[in-house]
Amino acid sequence: MELTGKHIALGVSGGIAAYKAAELVRLLIKQGATVQVAMTEAATHFITPVTFQALSGNPVFTDQWDPRVANNMAHIDLSRAADVLLIAPASADFLAKVANGLADDLLSTLTLARDCPLLVAPAMNQQMWENAATQRNIVTLRSDGISILGPACGEQACGENGLGRMLEPEEILTELIAHFQPRLLAGKKVLLTAGPTFEAIDPVRGITNLSSGKMGFALARAAREAGAEVTLVCGPVSQPTPSGIKRVDVTSAHEMHAAVMQCAAAQDVFIGVAAVADYRPKLASEHKIKKDGASATPIELVQNPDILADVAALPAPPLCVGFAAESRNLADYAQKKRAAKKIPLIVGNLVQHGFGGDDTMLTLFDDDGATPLPPGPKLALARALIEHIAGLLARR
Ligand code: C5P
Repeated sequence: MELTGKHIALGVSGGIAAYKAAELVRLLIKQGATVQVAMTEAATHFITPVTFQALSGNPVFTDQWDPRVANNMAHIDLSRAADVLLIAPASADFLAKVANGLADDLLSTLTLARDCPLLVAPAMNQQMWENAATQRNIVTLRSDGISILGPACGEQACGENGLGRMLEPEEILTELIAHFQPRLLAGKKVLLTAGPTFEAIDPVRGITNLSSGKMGFALARAAREAGAEVTLVCGPVSQPTPSGIKRVDVTSAHEMHAAVMQCAAAQDVFIGVAAVADYRPKLASEHKIKKDGASATPIELVQNPDILADVAALPAPPLCVGFAAESRNLADYAQKKRAAKKIPLIVGNLVQHGFGGDDTMLTLFDDDGATPLPPGPKLALARALIEHIAGLLARR
């Protein structure tokens, strides 16, 4: 559970995306948060307070004159208890109010009275989002330190298509979880490789490695949570892209090498998590090889470039981190790889421990020797690794 002990004040303003806020409350509660909902009068036309009360287990407030609040200061009480105030959906009108400091109902008043961070998830018709007044308000909100989550692009309830959709509840949850992580890599650029590579033999066959990409994707997410600008170059995987990350899809080791070398010099950190194929067929057959015997010739292999070693050999390389997945002699092989590739840190794991799964065991190998991390979910280990890397970067 990622939000245990966190108190979230959720403001719901009037828009059709208000129905998705119910799902958001369910997700927040599942992650261990306490949720207190306040709604605008307009929001109650789309979804009733009873829905939020049932899902959050707390009374819902809509009125600044609510007699249930003993001191009649709901706007103060509701925001003081919160670790964060999240407005989802945030309508164009509500954003305009916040940008201008208006306080003419309970939700806008408690937003003005807050002493906690404010996150807003805009939701509106694309024309309303593009409108110069809305864009002016967004600039103001950003410069006031308010986090704007989304909006997304796509089909809208009005039948139009464009920017203005509220982020999906799962995406808002991810952003909220990220909000509570320490910003250890703020302003830093992190480049990662993940997944396998695929080296074509013919149009339908190839050589590849087993790799789900889960560890690389978890690290990309953890680096983004830590405030870094993240680029993830990945081979063929079926992982969803973590939000806020630049993803570059490649197939072969050669393509991965080219994509990495194009931007490696501008990075602060490079983490090679990909299971890169060591060899590729010298020539890929243009047509499918038939099993008639005539085309059954041996496949000649040539070695692929070592991406990590090439990045580490740049004149001013980023801090380079490698991975070593081994089935035995982990410490010995990992330290040898670290020396061969001339990198400061290599992360070792035994393939018997968590290969393809959601949990794993990692050991860090550097100048100080071996440091095992406590076993756990890949995201938790990714965060621990990012913390270690941030420490190395600070000492560089
Ligand atoms: O060379 P080896 O596969 O044993 O080392 C693994 C580490 O090197 C991983 O970090 C992997 O991403 C990286 N690597 C690479 N290019 C290769 C082979 C491995 O970047 N051609």
